[in-house]
Amino acid sequence: MLTKQPKIYVAGHRGMVGSAIVRTLQQQGQTNIVMRTHDELELTNQAEVRAFLESEKPDQVFMAAARVGGIHANNTYPAEFIYDNLMVEANVIHEAWRVGVRKLLFLGSSCIYPKLASQPMREDALLTGPLEPTNEPYAVAKIAGIKLCESYNRQYGQSHGIDYRSVMPTNLYGPGDNYHPENSHVIPAMIRRFHEAKVNKAPVVTIWGTGTPHREFLYVDDMAAATVHVMNLDKAIYEANTQPMQSHINVGYGEDITIREVAEAVGKAVGYKGNIEFDTSKPDGTPRKLIDSSSLNAFGWQPTVGLKEGLSAAYKDFLINSDSLRML
Ligand SMILES: NC(=O)c1ccc[n+]([C@@H]2O[C@H](COP(=O)([O-])OP(=O)(O)OC[C@H]3O[C@@H](n4cnc5c(N)ncnc54)[C@H](OP(=O)(O)O)[C@@H]3O)[C@@H](O)[C@H]2O)c1
Repeated sequence: MLTKQPKIYVAGHRGMVGSAIVRTLQQQGQTNIVMRTHDELELTNQAEVRAFLESEKPDQVFMAAARVGGIHANNTYPAEFIYDNLMVEANVIHEAWRVGVRKLLFLGSSCIYPKLASQPMREDALLTGPLEPTNEPYAVAKIAGIKLCESYNRQYGQSHGIDYRSVMPTNLYGPGDNYHPENSHVIPAMIRRFHEAKVNKAPVVTIWGTGTPHREFLYVDDMAAATVHVMNLDKAIYEANTQPMQSHINVGYGEDITIREVAEAVGKAVGYKGNIEFDTSKPDGTPRKLIDSSSLNAFGWQPTVGLKEGLSAAYKDFLINSDSLRML
């Protein structure tokens, strides 16, 4: 007998993370995926979210829609970062509960952890100290998302069968990334710079800082696979390994790497033949940022895409992505 496929709503399916989740679900044979673009559905608008969820009544929701940006955007638009993210989360989680969605997975970020959390950062470091000030509004909204999920579980878990989970990914890279010159993360920014240097035959690419800080990077399709894995974990297993008021799961690669090593790997993936220099007069930032993914590993998940393979796929995507080429 054929089992009926669940109807799955992926919020933010055009983003880097949302599109990777859709790819993963489709690779796993899911065909009943509901998607709406930002133009079609404004998630900060409660009435629109209510009408949409009442008409679609999905079985599962992946929450990959968020207002996302780098340090500059977080610093320039703090009100929009906290307001939009709080509204999106509150609307989707509450309205999903209202229409009887039992399974929901919320995506946060490792910026929820205190600025000075000990490394590698474990899930129980949450709310143990002050956050990094530049993205505090965004991080507070993401912490609220975790607490929304936990509160609905605690109040309606028994009575309504509610099972809302959260994952906190490390730095991601891969297809669909943002290559904006001022507003992109480490790897996409390097891909763009090394590509430009290759095209312009520039003899040197200069990287800010000493190159010694350690960072962790995960290929986005690995993150999507981990997210679907966490969503599908047996409820008893998930609950036995989390706490009602500490239920989020870190999603990382498990190892960090220096900025120098990343720059060299990006240079190789792009085919840049010049030199790499470090401008040591520029700030380094925090010496190490790594999350502890041992809970996720204990749930039976491991990453499969190493940096070399991931960067080669990311660069291919950069080259075929017309938006990134238009920006050059
Ligand atoms: N990228 C990373 O390195 C990283 C790392 C850790 C965690 N995460 C988490 O993963 C999630 C997704 O990140 P991402 O990198 O995929 O971001 P992204 O590429 O910017 O995608 C976000 C998506 O959400 C949509 N969206 C934003 N606000 C909306 C609204 N008010 N109504 C409807 N749709 C809206 C965006 O549509 P428009 O573009 O049309 O506005 C976009 O399609 C976030 O929660 C983020 O914290 C990302």
